[in-house]
Amino acid sequence: MVSSTNAQVVAGRLPLVVGNWKMNGTRVNCVELLAGLRAAGPFDAEISVCCPFPYLADVALSLQGSGIGWGAQDCSEHEPGAYTGEVAAVMLAEFGCRHVIVGHSERRVYHAESDIQVADKARMALSHGLTPIVCVGETRSEREAGSTEVVVKRQLSAVIHALGHCVSQIVVAYEPIWAIGTGLTATPHQAQAVHAVLRAQLSAASTRAGEMRLLYGGSVNAVNAQELFAQPDIDGALVGGASLKAADFSAICRVASHVALGSTGKSRT
Ligand code: 13P
Repeated sequence: MVSSTNAQVVAGRLPLVVGNWKMNGTRVNCVELLAGLRAAGPFDAEISVCCPFPYLADVALSLQGSGIGWGAQDCSEHEPGAYTGEVAAVMLAEFGCRHVIVGHSERRVYHAESDIQVADKARMALSHGLTPIVCVGETRSEREAGSTEVVVKRQLSAVIHALGHCVSQIVVAYEPIWAIGTGLTATPHQAQAVHAVLRAQLSAASTRAGEMRLLYGGSVNAVNAQELFAQPDIDGALVGGASLKAADFSAICRVASHVALGSTGKSRT
């Protein structure tokens, strides 16, 4: 159950854990997975699941009334029209989506999505009442070249430029590409350092930056989540592989719930 009285709610930063199923699952096993997740709840953090488009109706049915949200992994930057194969944000809203991931590195790399396109997708999502989860992150070679900060700031700056002060309505996910699906996680210190850079950049654009949720993504599991979530600027996670098993995902949700309840003694910047 999402409580409205804990410290993080007052600070405006209830921890958020989002599952990104990517292109995984079957119609049958996604319903089983969600039954397991519901049974493991309720949680004191905000939880959401971003599934493949064809499963949205089933996911909505499975999660209705559970307090767990759902969403998609991409949307078009256009309003409905002649865009074969695309899915409009307004259609996601029809399915009750709360979130939509935009600019995931797998979209940027495999589909050549530009920073501006990602920003336009975020704007379209917001205009239809969805919360975009905007992903940023550097490659391994960019990190080794010392350009992590430049890369993530460039990616976020396109979104800030497109949204202006409305940028406070988005969620940002820092996902270092070298940590996605590799079992390599950024150390809590590495992740916190980038999150602090992002929050500072957001603070220059919005007076509400202190209330925004910044998620970490990249090989998150219930063990490394504890230290990651303890960092002052890490407000939850975008979870890939571990979101495909109810037990693994709910264990991460429980770690976030402990933060939400203030039982970890976490202090906020
Ligand atoms: P993994 O948790 O499998 O590394 O995936 C992270 C991710 O890309 C979530 O969007």
